[in-house]
Amino acid sequence: MKGIILAGGTGSRLYPMTKVISKQLMPIYDKPMIYYSLAILMLAKVREILVITTAQDQNAFQDLLKDGSQWGIHIQYMVQMRPEGIAQALILGQDFIKNDSVALILGDNIFYGHSMSAILSQAASIADKGAVVFGYWVKDPEQYGVIKFNNEGDVVDIIEKPVNPPSSYAVTGLYFYDSTASEKSKQLKPSARGELEITDLNKLYLNQKKLFVHKLGRGVAWLDTGTPESLLKASNFIQVIEERQGLKIACLEEIAYKLNYISYAQFENLAVHYSKSSYGNYLCSLLKVNMNQ
Ligand code: G1P
Repeated sequence: MKGIILAGGTGSRLYPMTKVISKQLMPIYDKPMIYYSLAILMLAKVREILVITTAQDQNAFQDLLKDGSQWGIHIQYMVQMRPEGIAQALILGQDFIKNDSVALILGDNIFYGHSMSAILSQAASIADKGAVVFGYWVKDPEQYGVIKFNNEGDVVDIIEKPVNPPSSYAVTGLYFYDSTASEKSKQLKPSARGELEITDLNKLYLNQKKLFVHKLGRGVAWLDTGTPESLLKASNFIQVIEERQGLKIACLEEIAYKLNYISYAQFENLAVHYSKSSYGNYLCSLLKVNMNQ
């Protein structure tokens, strides 16, 4: 399975913070935002990853994430010239995806919670049968793609930013698709806001009875980072959990080591490199404990 992180967009809702720095490079407490989506792909056991950015921001992402080999993965980069929709990422990534299935995640989405790794593994294991999306109960569904269920609880529609939401279940920014996603995306027409809507792609799968919706329970946090307030709340959330447990969320070095993508010696090198920061201190502390206990 391949992975795509879409980290384009102008971040205009966060201006002036995002005037010269990409939104997905903004800090969420102690690490750049994109670490959280990259961690999700790594936990889904995806090792071939395409990062799609604006032309202006590409160098910064390359400087930060490099070719991924430091974490035992492989990262390539591509530019989305204009923010013309999430589904466009699947067209841009067609040669990268080839005949594989693909996990697509928005670079500003943060997922955290119980059994996340198991949820991801399960989604990845059925992705070649169609599409897997996640439904999450929110208080403001009108901001998102919203799932409509019938009386039996079957999914009958997804509506993008409905004025009258048919349920409280929003579709999150994490999607798993079979190898037909790029071709299907090419059939889409731009919406009123000029974008190739991911909701329209998901509806194509739904019409073919190949859309699997996994409801994330309340034990999972799906956090928004679109406004200064939500950005701060996400940072506070991460800080509270990390502080309480003394364990870090989305620590890519730790994930890579636990998945056996890198050796102890490689892990040690990375830890020493960051040793002046609290993030580096954490890595150094892991060197002394049995991480598998
Ligand atoms: C996009 C999708 C929407 C989805 C949301 C998740 O919204 O269009 O269906 O629920 O991402 O973050 P946008 O960020 O374009 O407003």
